[in-house]
Amino acid sequence: MGTVDGAGVVVTGAGGGIGAALARRFAAEGARVVVNDLDGSKAEAVAAEIGATALPGDASAIVDAAREALDGRIDVYCANAGLGSPGDPFADEAVWASAWDVNVMAHVRAARALLPDWLERGEGRFVSTVSAAGLLTMIGAAPYSVTKHGALAFAEWLSLTYRHRGLKVHAICPQGVRTDMLTSAGSAGELVLAPTAIEPDDVADALFAAIADERFLVLPHPEVAEYYRARATEPDRWIGGMNHLQQKWEAGR
Ligand SMILES: NC(=O)c1ccc[n+]([C@@H]2O[C@H](COP(=O)([O-])OP(=O)(O)OC[C@H]3O[C@@H](n4cnc5c(N)ncnc54)[C@H](O)[C@@H]3O)[C@@H](O)[C@H]2O)c1
Repeated sequence: MGTVDGAGVVVTGAGGGIGAALARRFAAEGARVVVNDLDGSKAEAVAAEIGATALPGDASAIVDAAREALDGRIDVYCANAGLGSPGDPFADEAVWASAWDVNVMAHVRAARALLPDWLERGEGRFVSTVSAAGLLTMIGAAPYSVTKHGALAFAEWLSLTYRHRGLKVHAICPQGVRTDMLTSAGSAGELVLAPTAIEPDDVADALFAAIADERFLVLPHPEVAEYYRARATEPDRWIGGMNHLQQKWEAGR
């Protein structure tokens, strides 16, 4: 019997892309799955395909309804819904606010609703779909990069604070993944992400390998570990390299 067989699992933003792949994989492993998405018809289509429960709505406020759908118990919560949020400091306040709301605060609000039960039971698993941008950065996307750093910081904080009380946390940090988000990332996505893009199912495989090892950091693109090390140990060299990429992007636009 696998770790998640029979478990109650919630995946936000699971109407497509990485979330749908996670939902499919959890269902295939025997979990009872709630498929959330802001787009109700997408959530219903994925749920129907895998015999799950669709839960339309904003990922910020679905924990209680999801728990009810899972007969009172959530074992795994995948905070996956996210916004691509391109732009620089001049992006509208609304772009910055929605990036903060969906990429960070939805995770905080979910944790608030999940932790009392998880800490009482002494178990629970929180999966955060962050991004390599949370460890590094994404050119042309300041709101995305900043809020994904926030999402990673929050996942780390959860893990180090509650690890001894039974909480398991995973932070998934891929580079390009072939989803609608990558398509809408435009020329920066074409330059930086598309050449090494992987499939959403590859992300699900990487998560399940990390669950088997009880590993926090999930790197579907293993080279990200090298970039992360370079950023920490040689920050000016790393920023210089990223600036070359920025200039290449500007020249090609
Ligand atoms: N595609 C990539 O290259 C890539 C790389 C690294 C990380 N990620 C992250 O993976 C996650 C999933 O992205 P994806 O690539 O599958 O994108 P996607 O656009 O294919 O799917 C995201 C889904 O989230 C839903 N959604 C958006 N806001 C929501 C909200 N407030 N509540 C509920 N659902 C909401 C959308 O309707 C959509 O179905 C995101 O957090 C993203 O930042 C993606």
